[in-house]
Amino acid sequence: MLDHLKPGMRIRAFGPNGIFSFHRHPAAKYLFISAGSGITPMMSMTTWAWDRAQDTDIVFVHAAQRPSDIIFRDQLEHYVARVPGLQLRLTVEQPEPFRVWHGYQGRLNSLMLGLMAPDYLDREVFCCGPEPFMQAVREMLISLGYDMERYHQESFGAPVATEAEAPVIEDVTPDDDARAQVTFASSGVTAACAETDTVLAVAKRAGLNIPSGCTFGLCGTCRIRKTAGEVHMVHNGGISDEDIADGWILACCSNPMGRITVEV
Ligand code: FES
Repeated sequence: MLDHLKPGMRIRAFGPNGIFSFHRHPAAKYLFISAGSGITPMMSMTTWAWDRAQDTDIVFVHAAQRPSDIIFRDQLEHYVARVPGLQLRLTVEQPEPFRVWHGYQGRLNSLMLGLMAPDYLDREVFCCGPEPFMQAVREMLISLGYDMERYHQESFGAPVATEAEAPVIEDVTPDDDARAQVTFASSGVTAACAETDTVLAVAKRAGLNIPSGCTFGLCGTCRIRKTAGEVHMVHNGGISDEDIADGWILACCSNPMGRITVEV
């Protein structure tokens, strides 16, 4: 964008996507736990509550390396000073010289969590941060007897790092040699492809634009409706089971199995 956008150009913008939202999980109390730039979705939810003047009960726990690394710190402190239901708990690995730090220090642990949110067992937990951080949070909550049905997380990197970690999926998988076909109904375009092509790649080759972001089934930006045929979709949480049952797919991680039709 910085290289190519010029004053006067018009761009199409799309609203937020994805399923990591406290709307989907109504609860009396929430516990947001984030680290680093994992603060971003928590900030979106908190700002939504702020904008709607909703006094939602949220304990917002954030971990950073140093105080100066805390993203949105001023804005969060501004919210906290005005919203009784919002409590901010910050912890840093190391304070900075010549600056007073009143928050917690060290890695988030169960003792710290008990001080930050004594009623954490009653709270719906949303967690976002680097995978090792989220893994440590999951292990901590499990060891504390937390009901993990009420735990929700979002990754901001590709969740599967190595082939060995890839889940074994026991279904019909795309065949390199098998031919497939995608009909983009609204555009009146039909394109031949291999079963191993993603619907997103086929659309691009056909000169059609399906908005996309992460391209690995996480953000939900490329969600489109399929009206006929079957796809093989391996996503990373960017689409809900209800949407799938409703005929939606994520174009970036769906392979057409034979002939399919989508509403693009
Ligand atoms: S889910 Fe992010 S682009 Fe497809």
